[in-house]
Amino acid sequence: MLVRLMYASRAAGSLDQEGLAAILKKSVANNPAAGVTGVLCFSGKIFLQVLEGGRAQVSALYNRIAQDPRHHDVMLLSYEEIEERSFAGWSMGQVNMSRLNPALLLKYSESATLDPYAVSGQASMALFNELVATASVMCQT
Ligand SMILES: Cc1cc2nc3c(=O)[nH]c(=O)nc-3n(C[C@H](O)[C@H](O)[C@H](O)COP(=O)(O)O)c2cc1C
Repeated sequence: MLVRLMYASRAAGSLDQEGLAAILKKSVANNPAAGVTGVLCFSGKIFLQVLEGGRAQVSALYNRIAQDPRHHDVMLLSYEEIEERSFAGWSMGQVNMSRLNPALLLKYSESATLDPYAVSGQASMALFNELVATASVMCQT
């Protein structure tokens, strides 16, 4: 039983590049053992993350992440049972929003800023799929 979950959150004021790197390092260390894959987008203020894997594993990880003080306003945007993964290649891929073509953001929203609170979950998922298709997702090593 595979599921895909997507949420948005707002980073704590104190979170910097080093803090982001620590989150990604922990994700890459933990997720393979749990069979979880996904992608994390960070715009400087807002996180957008997709988690894929077994229902129990994704649920447990989401509940843990939601309690993490490094972010707040955690909002569930999408949850679905899936036949196959879309982000199987990443234990936790990373998208550097500063290097992203603004046209990609404009395609799915009114302005060229990442604001998953202002658009539908469907639009955010479409953006994720496009990020993968355009090879905008990187690995943390
Ligand atoms: C935006 C965000 C995304 C996160 N993503 C993951 C993740 O994909 N996998 C993970 O294990 N922890 C993730 N974390 C960290 C968890 O909240 C938690 O600190 C960590 O899983 C604890 O792992 P440990 O028990 O091995 O120390 C994330 C935290 C934040 C703030």
